[in-house]
Formats: sequence, C-alpha cells, structure tokens
Amino acid sequence: MTEPASRLHGSAAQRKLQAASLAAADSVRDTPGAVFAARVAGTDDPDRLGWDRIAATLRDERAITFRMIPVDACPDIEQRLAEIGCEITWWDVFDGPRDTIGATCDDLLAAARDDLVPLLPPASAQDAFYERVQGFMAGRGVAPCPAQVLSGEAGPAALAVLADPADGSIAATAFSYFPYNRHSPHRATAWAGVVAVREVMRGGGVGIRVNAPVLRAAVKDLGAERVQEYARTTNLASCRMIERCGLRLRRDVRSNIAQPDGARRFTR
Ligand SMILES: CC(C)(COP(=O)(O)OP(=O)(O)OC[C@H]1O[C@@H](n2cnc3c(N)ncnc32)[C@H](O)[C@@H]1OP(=O)(O)O)[C@@H](O)C(=O)NCCC(=O)NCCS
Repeated sequence: MTEPASRLHGSAAQRKLQAASLAAADSVRDTPGAVFAARVAGTDDPDRLGWDRIAATLRDERAITFRMIPVDACPDIEQRLAEIGCEITWWDVFDGPRDTIGATCDDLLAAARDDLVPLLPPASAQDAFYERVQGFMAGRGVAPCPAQVLSGEAGPAALAVLADPADGSIAATAFSYFPYNRHSPHRATAWAGVVAVREVMRGGGVGIRVNAPVLRAAVKDLGAERVQEYARTTNLASCRMIERCGLRLRRDVRSNIAQPDGARRFTR
C-alpha cells in the first residue's frame, strides 16, 4: 500500500485512525480476533484479540469497532468498557446470502435510467477523484474510508459513485470490501456501507440505486458468500434501503464503535 500517511480524509482524529488502521493492516489480517475496519481498529472476537490490547487501543486511538457480537455477549462488553471509561451504542446488523442478494439487486437494477450516471476513477489524477468521493461522504456525515481502501489497493473492493450527467457532480456513493481475516467465521462476508445520497435527491430511490450495484459486485465479482451492512435502528431510510436490497435484520448479533465516554460520534 502506498503512503499510509496520505490519501486519508476527515477530521484530524479520523485521519489518525485511518493511518493507524492502514499501518496495522498486514498484522491485523493475520491476527485472530482482529478486523481490518479501515476507518478504525476492530475486533469480531474480543476475548481472542485480548482485552489488554482493546484497552490499549481505546487509550491510544480512542476508538475500536466491535463486529458481529452475539447479543447475549453485549452486556458483558458494555460492562468491561464501562470499567475503562468507555461506552458503545449498538447498531443493527443486516446481512444476506449471495443468491438472494444477486437476484434482488439484478431486479432492482433491471430498469435502465440515465438521469444519474456511474462515475469511474479516471486513468490519471486518481487521488483527486478519491478526494472528491471522500469529501462527498464526509459532507453527508459518513466517515470516509482511506483512498487506499476505496481504490482496492488494500484488498478486493467495489465502489459505486453516481453523478449528475449535467455537471458531473456526485449524487451518491456506496462501497464494499472484506474486513474479516482468515481466522474469522465471517471471512467470506463482505461489508458494505458509506452509503450517502445528496440531500435534495433523498427519498427518490437513489440510495437503492447506488447500494444495489455495490452489493451485486460483492457477490458476483468479488466472490462474497454473504454481505452485511450496519445501520442505526433510528435511521429508517438506511434500514429500509438495506432491506430493499435483499439483506435481513440479524437479531442474534450487533456491531458498533466503542469510544471513551462522551466522545463525539464517529459516523452516522
Ligand atoms: C440513507 C440514505 C443513503 C438513503 O438514500 P435515499 O435515496 O434517501 O433512499 P431511497 O430513496 O433509495 O429509499 C430507500 C427506502 O427507504 C425508504 N425511505 C427513504 N427515506 C425514508 C425515511 N425518511 N423514513 C422512512 N423510510 C424512508 C424509501 O421509501 C425506500 O423504501 P421503499 O422503496 O420500500 O419505499 C440517505 O438518506 C442518506 O444519504 N442519508 C445520510 C447518510 C446515511 O445515513 N447513510 C447511511 C449510513 S448507515
């Protein structure tokens, strides 16, 4: 991966977390219980990763994401986090199998539309392209991923950007890649997210139109057996968009980012 200190985006704190995540990518890919979450450190098995390491990460980086935690394990994690002055508010997890997602997204994308067009990375000036994409995500309150991850340099990935053909301005984004390592039961599951739609275009199906191609690419091009997305229960548009694309609410697991008590919310 090139220049871990650059091609990052967001607040100084977010860039610091992205740089730390990129710098640790190789060892994270090899560590049982660790997750390459791209925007922040992560774990899908806190006991396996070790609470000393989790506490040190929270002390040094002030954030770590907990992924695919069984609901009956959540109270214990909350308790352990409280003991070190940290807190977590759980997000709902949605996921689905390859065939369901492929068929659902094929149906959703069958009707040709030309009011928005896919925007692809140019042959040159790619850094400027990813910076624009990251700026669009951040402007919608969604913490962006580093360009090294959006571009696929850090591993197989799918990015969808829709633009207004009239002026080329970005209308919507979505992204998918594989965060779980070879030790994880979720290693063949892709994560999708950073879905953002320009404010004036919301509620007209654009979210579905940008999310569906990314999910379809994850299962058809990247070989994902399942795809997952996270959303706050209160984010009705996001939950509904995810379900329309063929994913279903998992009532047995939760995910989200732990931070020190009172820290500013990391992302939408
Ligand atoms: C979440 C977001 C991407 C959805 O995009 P969108 O273009 O508004 O969504 P769509 O128009 O494609 O709608 C998807 C579904 O949600 C429903 N929906 C849209 N807005 C809704 C709302 N405010 N309340 C309830 N349902 C809503 C739509 O009716 C549609 O369902 P339907 O087809 O069954 O009718 C967009 O609202 C956004 O950018 N939000 C800010 C960033 C964000 O929260 N991203 C998600 C992070 S997890």
